[in-house]
Formats: sequence, structure tokens, C-alpha cells
Amino acid sequence: MPAEEVGRIFGDVGLGTFRLTLARPLERGEYLAVVDESKRAVLCQLDDVERRSDLNLEKANRLAHGDAVPVEETFFGRSVILGYREGPIVRVPQIPFRPGSPVYRADEPLIAQVLGLKSNGGSSAYLGLLRNHDLKVELDINALCQRHVSVLSKTGGGKSYLVGVLLEEFLKHKVTCVIIDPHGEYGSIRYRSEHAPREHARFGIDAQGFRDQVQEFSPDTNLNPEAKPLTFSLGHLDARELLLFMGITNVRGFVAPMKALLDRVAVDNPEYTVRDLIQAARHGEERSPLLEAIAERLEYVDETHLLAPRGTSLSELVSPGKMTIINLRGSAPDVQELIVTRIATSFFEQRKRGKIPPLFMVLEEAHNFCPQQGQALCSRILKTIASEGRKFGLGMCVVSQRPARVDKSVLSQCATQLILQVTNPLDVRAIAQSIEGLTDGMTEIIQGLPIGTCLVTGGGFQTPLFCEVRPRASRHGGESVKVVPAS
Ligand SMILES: Nc1ncnc2c1ncn2[C@@H]1O[C@H](COP(=O)(O)OP(=O)(O)OP(=O)(O)O)[C@@H](O)[C@H]1O
Ligand SMILES: [Mg+2]
Repeated sequence: MPAEEVGRIFGDVGLGTFRLTLARPLERGEYLAVVDESKRAVLCQLDDVERRSDLNLEKANRLAHGDAVPVEETFFGRSVILGYREGPIVRVPQIPFRPGSPVYRADEPLIAQVLGLKSNGGSSAYLGLLRNHDLKVELDINALCQRHVSVLSKTGGGKSYLVGVLLEEFLKHKVTCVIIDPHGEYGSIRYRSEHAPREHARFGIDAQGFRDQVQEFSPDTNLNPEAKPLTFSLGHLDARELLLFMGITNVRGFVAPMKALLDRVAVDNPEYTVRDLIQAARHGEERSPLLEAIAERLEYVDETHLLAPRGTSLSELVSPGKMTIINLRGSAPDVQELIVTRIATSFFEQRKRGKIPPLFMVLEEAHNFCPQQGQALCSRILKTIASEGRKFGLGMCVVSQRPARVDKSVLSQCATQLILQVTNPLDVRAIAQSIEGLTDGMTEIIQGLPIGTCLVTGGGFQTPLFCEVRPRASRHGGESVKVVPAS
């Protein structure tokens, strides 16, 4: 039985919560244990703590003047009942605890047993340690990939760092991953971390780079010299798709002349270039203001270097057991949307046919690619992957600093949520509404979480838990930029 008694149950006792006196103040979130009527140790969690005193205005004034004033304090709290484990199931006692029962500090074996903290053997992703404990929090990689994940926090909350941790684990387990990286942050995973070896030792992590398992593609290799060029096959695009690449979203009126232009050019030269199309639009027999408008937009497409007679093949992009970074740094938002649409559609189609290995796709800045309001070009395919991807071994990790602005139908498909500090009231509300079992206390804790601590919900755990994210083995690329130079 747990040894250290911390307080006693008092007042009216419910089946989900109870109040307790505390001999001294404990931290909110602390795990407690109570023995129920059937002599089972039941895991509970402190959800609120209060400190009452007899320090009235008059006494406080005397204290301020330096008088020795005796202050009487009492501590009490509210605890939620998490339950006891019966095989794979966590149950909650159906008879309320007896008032006056002692409440103990829970010991680690009970915490690990009830929360389900166990290694999933060969398919575990080591995320970090249970907050204030030395218990490892490991997520089942298969479950993550099959049922999708969301990583949410305010800006600078530590999302990309945490995703880096997940990716390191995936690479160790040879899971094929593709990262949509709008800011070019993830290439640094190639290199070993140079940070705080003491922290590494506490978490049992060795610094390590993953150079041999990482490849990077970008439409802009001048800005991103470590990347190989990312191009799409011009010949594989039909008139509508090409118009989208040209930024013409209202395609009506353009489709017929575009189709005629493509047919005309392809007859003589099946491996045509964008310049061939411009030439034909401007100097062909049929000239019109519409064709001139098409030529102008094609000039813009030509500058992006995105379309080539032979584009990057899917077999180059997806390499089994490796991580592919699609570095979109420097690309305009509409071009980024086009790329994501094209890539996500190919992944989905080719996974259906089993032509590429099962893979895990990370979508950074998801609010831009599948917004709740308005429509992005890629919204439809991302919603399809969110709802059907798991059947075909296409997992998704949705990352966003504005949870309230991400399409709800995408977010609701994420069975595992990793939540770091969130302060915006709309985002807090969006999260609270989308997570089962989130208590008021936890919702408050989320708003004050220190960097590096995340709330884990789902992921094979029956109750939400807080985890101190382990340090990165590799270098993190999203360091905040200091405006004042170091002196
Ligand atoms: N677990 C952690 N341990 C130590 N430092 C961390 C941890 N998580 C984040 N940081 C630090 O916090 C800063 C912000 O982290 P990160 O880049 O992951 O934020 P973000 O949520 O992705 O922000 P944004 O929304 O702006 O992309 C970085 O400087 C990073 O080094
Ligand atoms: Mg980030």
C-alpha cells in the first residue's frame, strides 16, 4: 500500500471527484491514491488546491509594519478519480469513497499501471518523462500513424521541437516520413545536438544526427542549398491543374483555350517546356487577349522553376525508412498550397495502390493548408487523408499554432493530441471542446505550461497526462531569433 499519507477525504463524496484536507500544499496535477471499499488502491489526481488563512486586512497591515503576527493556515484540494486497472481496462469504483479515508501520495508502480505507461516494445516512440516522475512516456508508433496526431500550442510553445523528437524516434524505427516544412526548420535533424549533456543524461538520450536517413527537396534550391530541386512533370498536368499552378483559381473561360494550347504544343513536342507554351501562346496563329493573359501567368510559373519536362518522381520523394523534407521556405503561399495538394494527392493515390511504403506525413502550419474558414486548394485532399488515410497506411501529424483556425473535421480525426502551452481563449476553447476527459484543472494548467511540457491525450492512454518532452538528440532548427545581439 502507498506509504505517505497526505490528507483525508471530507464533505460530500462523488463518484468522479472528492475534496480532501491537505497536511501541506501539494502541486496541482500530483497523483494520489485512495483505498476503496473493496481494498483496491485507486489512482486519483489533484485537480485544484486552495490555501486558506485567518490573515485578515488588519493582520496583514500589522505584518507589513514588521509585527510578528501568527497566521493560521489550512490547505485543501479537489481530486479527480482516475481509477484502478482490471486487465486492459481502467475502472472507477462505483461506491463513493468513505469520508475520512486517508489519501496517500501514489507510488510509481500504481501510476504506471493505471496510466498504462509501458513500453510497446519495438514500436515505441519515447516522448519524455511523466511530469515530476522518472516514468517514461512512450507512444505506440503504429497507433500514431494509423489514427493521426495533432501537435498544438501557441507560437514558440515547442511544437516543432516536439515533432523533431517524434521524428527522431520514427527514424530510429525506420518509419518512412515526409515533412511539409514551410519554414525550412527540419533539415537540422541531420546534425547532433550540442545542447546540455546533463539534461540528456537525465532523460537517457545520446546526442545523434540522422544525416544518412534524411533527404530534402525544395522548389528554391538557391535559398535552400542543402535541398535537391523539387519539380513536377509538366506533361502530367491537365489544363485545369496547370491553371492552378498559374494561380488562376477561377478557371472558367480559361480551360478551353488552355487545353487547345497544350494539345497544339504536345503534337510536335511531347517533352514540352513552359517556355514552349509561352512561345505558342504569344506567337501562334490564333492570338487573343486571353492567350496573352495565359502567357503572362506562364511567365510567373516559369520563374518558380516548379514545372519541368520530367519532374521529381514519387519513388525519389518517398524513400523507405527515410525522412523526406519538403522545404517550402521562400515559396509563395499559393505555390505552397499547390505543392501540398499535388504531393498529398499522389501519396494518397499511390498508397491506395500499395506503390509506396506506409508513411507518416507531418503538416506544419496546418491552419494555412486546411483552414476552418474559407477554402485552401489542398483542403479537400487533406480532409480525405484525415478521414480515410489510416485504411491505407497514410498517417498524418497536424501541427498548428492556431487550433481554432484548423478545419475541425481534420482535427477531430486525430486520435492523439500533444498539447503544449496555449493561451488564446479561442484556441483553449477549441481544444477543451475536442478532448474527452479534460478536466477544468487541466484546461487551466495548459495555459501556464512551461516550455517543454506537453499534455498527452489519446495515444493509447485512457486518461490525459502531462509529459516533460525529452531533449532532442539532433539539432533543433526553429530556435527563436535574438533581436539584441549578444554582447
Ligand atoms: N522540450 C524542450 N526543451 C528545451 N527547449 C525547448 C523545448 N521545446 C521548445 N524549446 C525551445 O523553445 C523555442 C520554441 O520552440 P519551437 O520552435 O518548437 O516552437 P513552435 O511551437 O514550433 O513555434 P512556432 O509556432 O513559432 O513554429 C525554441 O528555441 C526551442 O529550442
Ligand atoms: Mg514551429
